[in-house]
Amino acid sequence: MERRVGERRSAIVTGGASGIGKACVHQLIAQGWAVTIADRNPDGEAQVEAIRAAGGTAQFVATDVSREEDVRALLAAATGAYGQLHGAINCAGVVGMSKPVHEIAVEDYDRILAINLRGMFLCIKHQVAAMLPYRDGSIVAVSSAAALKGLPWSSDYCSSKAGIDGLVRGAAMDCAEHNVRINAVLPGATITPLAMSSSNANPALAKTRTRPMERMAEPSEIAAAAVFLVGPGGSFVTGISMPVDGGMVIA
Ligand SMILES: NC(=O)c1ccc[n+]([C@@H]2O[C@H](COP(=O)([O-])OP(=O)(O)OC[C@H]3O[C@@H](n4cnc5c(N)ncnc54)[C@H](O)[C@@H]3O)[C@@H](O)[C@H]2O)c1
Repeated sequence: MERRVGERRSAIVTGGASGIGKACVHQLIAQGWAVTIADRNPDGEAQVEAIRAAGGTAQFVATDVSREEDVRALLAAATGAYGQLHGAINCAGVVGMSKPVHEIAVEDYDRILAINLRGMFLCIKHQVAAMLPYRDGSIVAVSSAAALKGLPWSSDYCSSKAGIDGLVRGAAMDCAEHNVRINAVLPGATITPLAMSSSNANPALAKTRTRPMERMAEPSEIAAAAVFLVGPGGSFVTGISMPVDGGMVIA
């Protein structure tokens, strides 16, 4: 157990090369965290160069969160570069097939669950293992309002996100007495490449998801909640699923 006293706080952001994850990276860097961006999208490399040029501390680790060997290597890279891991915001995820339930091929269902749910399990499992020896850590799982709400042509995506909320509650119970907190943020429709692709493929969904505020979120609005929960402001919060959805789940 290597503790580097006085060093800046370190976090992993999965899916950090785009959308909500990228906004989380920017906010963490602005608060002085050292950030490991984990994504299968190599755009994260250019992002790291820009952060370093501006005086921030970041690295990119090419990662497929559905592969345990990648997640192990990610944790080794993060702790190798920056020592103790204080936080993680797990954003990596994909949209579903945009089909009614009876038309979804089992292979596609398995692939979506492998990334969104099994990938989240693998990240939480290895992040918790790194945090427990220090009795200090906070993990945020980016789930979705789709965990709580029935949405058309989205049964694969909804089930992956509802699974995340159960995973978070169970893992939070295992970790609370060790001062490691685990929470979920449930975004509503947010202006990112993922949301744009699902709107094109699923017009019925696009119609429902700006209610009731009549707009979509900026990625920074979701990141603000995730960064709050991962940081010291959330020190007595664990096991919650926090909608950040402009009222979508109550509409
Ligand atoms: N945008 C929305 O409207 C919305 C709403 C609710 C929840 N979410 C959730 O927010 C999270 C971030 O989505 P976003 O909207 O920013 O989308 P995005 O497509 O902009 O970003 C997702 C990132 O995850 C990465 N990724 C996908 N699969 C991966 C894998 N197997 N391993 C590593 N990285 C992987 C992608 O390369 C991408 O950089 C997702 O989990 C998504 O389900 C988004």
